[in-house]
Amino acid sequence: MAVDIQEYARVLAEAVLNGAPASSVTSAEKALGDDRRGIALRWAVDPLIKLEIEAALGATRGDIELLCELLQMGNLASQRGDELHAGSPLGVAVRETLARIKGLELPGSETVCVRHFGGQYFSFAQAAELDEIAYLARSRGSSVLLAATLSTASHLVNSIGKQFAQPIRPKDKSGVPKLHVIKKILFERGLSARSVFISYLRQYEGLAVIRRDHVAVRADFREALAKPALKPSVVYADPPYTRDHYSRFYHSLETITLGDDPHITMSNLGGGDIQSRGGYRAGRHQSPFCIKSEAPAAFAALFAGVAALRVPLVLSYSGYDPSMEARPRVMALDAVVSLAQQCFKEVRVEQLANLEHMKLNKTPLNKAAKGTTEVLLLCR
Ligand SMILES: C[S@@+](CC[C@H](N)C(=O)[O-])C[C@H]1O[C@@H](n2cnc3c(N)ncnc32)[C@H](O)[C@@H]1O
Repeated sequence: MAVDIQEYARVLAEAVLNGAPASSVTSAEKALGDDRRGIALRWAVDPLIKLEIEAALGATRGDIELLCELLQMGNLASQRGDELHAGSPLGVAVRETLARIKGLELPGSETVCVRHFGGQYFSFAQAAELDEIAYLARSRGSSVLLAATLSTASHLVNSIGKQFAQPIRPKDKSGVPKLHVIKKILFERGLSARSVFISYLRQYEGLAVIRRDHVAVRADFREALAKPALKPSVVYADPPYTRDHYSRFYHSLETITLGDDPHITMSNLGGGDIQSRGGYRAGRHQSPFCIKSEAPAAFAALFAGVAALRVPLVLSYSGYDPSMEARPRVMALDAVVSLAQQCFKEVRVEQLANLEHMKLNKTPLNKAAKGTTEVLLLCR
């Protein structure tokens, strides 16, 4: 049984644990090839697709202005029609695309990748393909198709670290183009979402699945422990340990999985009148493990919940060396151990050999791994 509060995490777990019942590559290729909805959507987005091709060609010749304009525009959902100059090529393409999308009368959820993530995280061509692939996956109710869609989105996304927290900035603070970033943008935006998807689908299908009766649940950990779908013999918990909410970094994956058309949160900047640059979905989950005042109660509930099931707990946590430059932990390891000792007779802390340290032998490369010491708390 796998448990996570985010639906995308549940889907990934289910795909990995239970696998695909039958080969879906051929049938997915055929369905995407015959997809009239997808062809119509691509036609609707064509003005912007043509413009981004022009922008990419310009950038390869050293003129990056149109590409920068495109990247800095924000998402289509935040365009109110007056932001872009009526006569500018980008303004014309945006208005034409929005009019065509409206004319198609598709539900908002079926164009959400184009409207919320296109231009910022993906090229418009990729976003239209992602909408098409996600629609196919959701309409078939297949975790493996959906998981391959999520892996495709993570593979293609144009951002530092392959998350969805902040779209890439093509220029530095003084307005100078970051050439290495432009190169990466052009490469990643040139990839075909459909080919990347098919190759992930093959990978998911190739996973060795021994049994198909695993359960993947979307639930808060407290609820899952109070009423577990299966009786566990051991619990492994891997909660967040920094202030960074997973829902911020992976909001786009959640939207693709849920297949909805969420409001986008407003930014604190600009008097609260502009949408968040990252295009975050409204109401995204705020984990108590990431909030300093709530983390102690969350850990106490985790320990009490597992102890009540009378099974051992293996908890992944992270030690923190403040002299290093890692993100501070929400709770110090000692405090977590003390809470565990209130519910379990024996609490052992095992330090894991840090694979990052062992892998990266050049000093500058070690910076990211410094200060991160993975530990396991073994509680029984
Ligand atoms: C460190 S990650 C674990 C990832 C997972 N072990 C894996 O390897 O994919 C922490 C996870 O805890 C989940 N989470 C945060 N708060 C939660 C809660 N209240 N209930 C259930 N899951 C939660 C997050 O969504 C995130 O996926």
